[in-house]
Amino acid sequence: MKLSIVLLLFLVSSFHLSLSQCYNALFNFGDSLSDTGNVVIAGLPYGMTYFGHHTGRCSDGRLVIDFIAEGIGLPHLLPNTAKNASFHQGANFAFIAAPALPFDFFHQRGLSKGLWVNASVHEQVDRFEKLLPSICGTPQECKDFLSKSLLVVGEFGGNDYNTGIFGGRSIIEVSTFAPHVTQAVAEGVERLIGLGAVDVIVPSVLPVGCFPLYLTLYNSSNPEDYGPKTGCARKFNALSWYHNTLLRRQIHRLRQKFPAVSIRYADFYAQGFDFAINPLKYGESPALLN
Ligand SMILES: *[C@@H]1O[C@H](CO)[C@@H](O)[C@H](O)[C@H]1NC(C)=O
Ligand SMILES: *[C@@H]1O[C@H](CO)[C@@H](O)[C@H](O)[C@H]1NC(C)=O
Ligand SMILES: *[C@@H]1O[C@H](CO)[C@@H](O)[C@H](O)[C@H]1NC(C)=O
Repeated sequence: MKLSIVLLLFLVSSFHLSLSQCYNALFNFGDSLSDTGNVVIAGLPYGMTYFGHHTGRCSDGRLVIDFIAEGIGLPHLLPNTAKNASFHQGANFAFIAAPALPFDFFHQRGLSKGLWVNASVHEQVDRFEKLLPSICGTPQECKDFLSKSLLVVGEFGGNDYNTGIFGGRSIIEVSTFAPHVTQAVAEGVERLIGLGAVDVIVPSVLPVGCFPLYLTLYNSSNPEDYGPKTGCARKFNALSWYHNTLLRRQIHRLRQKFPAVSIRYADFYAQGFDFAINPLKYGESPALLN
């Protein structure tokens, strides 16, 4: 009994050790769910409760990407726009409000007024590609370097759909963005694999129909519009669900194309949905993201 506990402790600690030694760097791409300071809205005290000073995070605490960094024993990610910083252990390309798709996609649909940052998946990967030589040198050296790094691509998509919905478009029209959005995410992952990535995490979108913002702006008197257990708005969750189905299909395709690369789907939807179903498990208020 004692022996097995000691063995277990040993396994746990050596697992932790090997995890921390596993990655030399962490790179992240995404939007407000993971921006650690690229869009600092000066004067707004965002992100200070945990860090003690404002960091530009859209949270008073740590973001998922902060916990990933801690979990693999690397420093919290600096935004790639940080001045005079060393990115040898990673960088964060995420921007608050970033859609996956470029300006032109929305411009063609008369929706570009709703955009306030140009930081699509491709633009973020462009910035990564530009930064790489300063981190690791030649393309071959960078391949070796990235073969020991962890890359997180997303969440992306929330702002693409927001741009359509807040621009007054129907949910049917906005749903037609999903194949383009998930294609863009997959193209981003494919470019990163081309640069040498072998370990990629691709998060899903959250159940946006549970967000207080959507519940407030698009309230309805028809009870059928809401999930009976969650009170979440069905049509918006259906949109998230559709996006995630297409995203999983893209990941499946990439796994077949690149069998040597680990591409993990991070199910933010299920986690977010659990907040709505079991709010008491997480705190007292059933409100998700406000
Ligand atoms: C930039 O970094 C170098 C080396 O760490 C340091 O000597 C220098 O003072 C820094 N410059 C600024 C403007 O922070
Ligand atoms: C984004 O790019 C487009 C096209 O190049 C440009 O017209 C627009 O002003 C840019 N938006 C921002 C916020 O920089
Ligand atoms: C939606 O919310 C507004 C503001 O609280 C309220 O006045 C309105 O009656 C609500 N509409 C429906 C259909 O519940």
